[in-house]
Amino acid sequence: MAKAKTYYFCQECGYQSSSWLGRCPECGKFGTFAEEVVKMDSGKRKAEGGKPEGASVPKRIQEVTYSETKRIPTHCGEFDRVLGGGIVPGSLLLLGGEPGIGKSTLLLQTALAIHDRKLLYVSGEESEQQIKMRADRLTSDLLPPTSELYVVSETVTQRIFEHVDAMQPDLLIVDSIQTVITEDIDSPAGSVSQIRQCTTEFQHYAKTTGVPVLLIGHITKDGTLAGPKVMEHIVDAVLQFEGDRNYGYRILRAQKNRFGSTAEIGIFEMQGNGLCEVPNPSEFLLSQRDETLSGAAVAATLEGARPIFIEVQSLVSSAVYGTPQRNANGFDMRRLSMLLAVLEKRCRFKLGAKDVFLNIAGGLRVNDPAIDLAVACAILSSNVDIPISPRIAFAAELGLNGEVRPVSHAEQRVAEANRLGFGKIFISKYNLKEIDPHRYPIEIIAVSVIEEAFRSLFA
Ligand code: TYD
Ligand code: MG
Repeated sequence: MAKAKTYYFCQECGYQSSSWLGRCPECGKFGTFAEEVVKMDSGKRKAEGGKPEGASVPKRIQEVTYSETKRIPTHCGEFDRVLGGGIVPGSLLLLGGEPGIGKSTLLLQTALAIHDRKLLYVSGEESEQQIKMRADRLTSDLLPPTSELYVVSETVTQRIFEHVDAMQPDLLIVDSIQTVITEDIDSPAGSVSQIRQCTTEFQHYAKTTGVPVLLIGHITKDGTLAGPKVMEHIVDAVLQFEGDRNYGYRILRAQKNRFGSTAEIGIFEMQGNGLCEVPNPSEFLLSQRDETLSGAAVAATLEGARPIFIEVQSLVSSAVYGTPQRNANGFDMRRLSMLLAVLEKRCRFKLGAKDVFLNIAGGLRVNDPAIDLAVACAILSSNVDIPISPRIAFAAELGLNGEVRPVSHAEQRVAEANRLGFGKIFISKYNLKEIDPHRYPIEIIAVSVIEEAFRSLFA
């Protein structure tokens, strides 16, 4: 008979303690401990298939053999790119994202696309009818009669494994880990101990059977995965699905990936019939703009390993109220203040008396410092009311003294600018030595301080 035992868990980080604590020794937060009942297995875990679990044998590394793991392609280029070329058998994946961002849509769509395998989609959030309604939206024509996608609405892991044992799927999808519970533990769904235990059960299933499991997880407002951090340690890959809900773009990033690179991102657009891949984001994000409008500049940024060209828009106007307003969309406010201070000092603009608004077109959030020069030039352009040609791109970081600093992968950015048909690209003088100017017909303008860029553009 299993005996009940209670533990106290930090609801922030999952730290476990046998007594209540006011402050978590792990994450330092106050008042985060909650009591959860944990029913432990009285005996040792039963080994499956008769083979005792202790039967592992250490081998010399040269003797370890493996067959080339055959990944399951998702039939979606962007998803495969982030995964590193498909789903690895026996892996446990976690897809996180804010509510309503499109996690269920992405995985259901993927499940519908993998039509040569038997799949089980378990939902603790939606009924079978609701899943079918969504599936009908995602497939414009009727589902192929041969499709082997099974759906079930279920929340108890023990029932899920019964279904799995009965139908032996090639892939299991669980939407979401916060709604499933295990009978071994008495605490409510979504609590730290439930999430941890359920994740471990799915991991055990994936590792013993070789069937990959895709879990959906919610994230909280501050962008961390709801539930314990420990979950991120258990799974093989953590994928984040993000984007602004008011715009159609969605970005899929790998935060952790044991079987691929974390530098790759996938870009999607949410449309009426689901998520569409965006293989060429730059062409998509650069708005078709009038040559005569001031205040816009194109930045050659890098998202992961992929160059993405985006338009920075700025509006500078005289402050009507006492304190000038500063507002940035998709760009760090503190970085904007810093850039404004640099421009104030180096280019002698009285920006202190002006309102400055900044917007990254397309609703993207950019953290690549290589966007600095484009931001500064867009502000200057709006201030002097002289347009910058849409055929000019920028890729450089700005230092506190107005120096134009080099950025990573400069050649890749120049090559992409050239491919997209830009006429000129502004980069730092210190990046010049890595680039062979004869390879690219694009005109490369190397500057070392912001004044040089200003003179070249507006003088
Ligand atoms: P959903 O996958 O339910 O989000 P999550 O599982 O991450 O909470 O998708 C949420 C939004 O996507 C929903 O507000 C409507 C929108 N959507 C579309 O625009 N087109 C579609 O074809 C579908 C299925 C959803
Ligand atoms: Mg959902």
